[in-house]
Amino acid sequence: MIALLDEQFMPAESQSSCFHVAVLLRETISALRPAPGKLYLDGTVGGGGHALGLLEEGASVIACDQDPEALEEAAVRCAEYSDRIRFIESNFADATGRFAELGITGLDGVLLDLGLSSHQLDTPSRGFSFMREGPLDMRMGPHVQRTAADVVNESSQEELARIFFEFGQETASRRLAAHLVKVRSRSPIRTTSDLAKAIEAVIPKRGPKHPATQVFQALRIAVNSELSVLERALHVLSDWINIGGRMAVITFHSLEDRIVKRYFKEVSQEWIDRPEWEAPRRNPEHAFRLVTGRAVKPGVQEQRINPRARSAKLRVVERIRNES
Ligand SMILES: C[S@@+](CC[C@H](N)C(=O)[O-])C[C@H]1O[C@@H](n2cnc3c(N)ncnc32)[C@H](O)[C@@H]1O
Repeated sequence: MIALLDEQFMPAESQSSCFHVAVLLRETISALRPAPGKLYLDGTVGGGGHALGLLEEGASVIACDQDPEALEEAAVRCAEYSDRIRFIESNFADATGRFAELGITGLDGVLLDLGLSSHQLDTPSRGFSFMREGPLDMRMGPHVQRTAADVVNESSQEELARIFFEFGQETASRRLAAHLVKVRSRSPIRTTSDLAKAIEAVIPKRGPKHPATQVFQALRIAVNSELSVLERALHVLSDWINIGGRMAVITFHSLEDRIVKRYFKEVSQEWIDRPEWEAPRRNPEHAFRLVTGRAVKPGVQEQRINPRARSAKLRVVERIRNES
């Protein structure tokens, strides 16, 4: 069973009212080893908490986010260091396309702190939460083409069932997809509460989790192509890391974590073996070493102060050579 985001059913009073509280801040900054003269890509700058941590240690930062609201917030938060931070509005998987114009030839570190900011989740008009009435949007940025309403109202029944099962591990995926197709034939599903009501009619409440938790997560992943973007970004961005530079990724559910763990293993294994080979062979992808054997998780204190950190996992690798 995948670990799902808990944030949607957090009591409102335990949620921070600020833009976003950076997760695993101390651990991430110390793993990235910022110092004057070093250059980092923060691919998910959000409210700028991690970027500020890097800047405070004297490093320079390319701050990327696909959400213009995040870039605005980060610019304010990091204003004191405006001479060492530059902003890119882009999907992080495409950020390297802007490197030539910025004169970037290599990076000393990359940070991806995946998922949503608290601001995105808590803003009703973004449509991410079934606890807040709003349009069924869920796009992390304006360049994402289809909204969640487009996906729910236009996808085939089979496609909806696949999304709910693959990205939300929703066991009632087929029944739910069939029900949504019936509901939308009467009237389009336009808002978060339209969808939440339709889900409640099919999936009974199980424990403390709202039945819509998994379905909303699944739709968000589909709308933003989160898993395929992550796979592509890990490959593209790791090519830009200088020897001695590090890549740190914070994930919030096991679908993301599995991708990161597998990729980090792929690039950090010196030898690979296959049943059909006579002997193990050198891994041509071997260019990194694992800095974190096991994922780093937030301590009890951080989880208490910031319940949204509960499912976070930090993994880090360091480039030790160029690929052969
Ligand atoms: C968890 S927040 C980051 C918080 C940030 N580290 C901080 O300290 O405030 C995730 C941010 O990543 C952005 N994001 C998620 N996926 C992205 C992608 N593929 N490309 C660019 N930005 C992305 C979201 O828009 C959101 O602002």
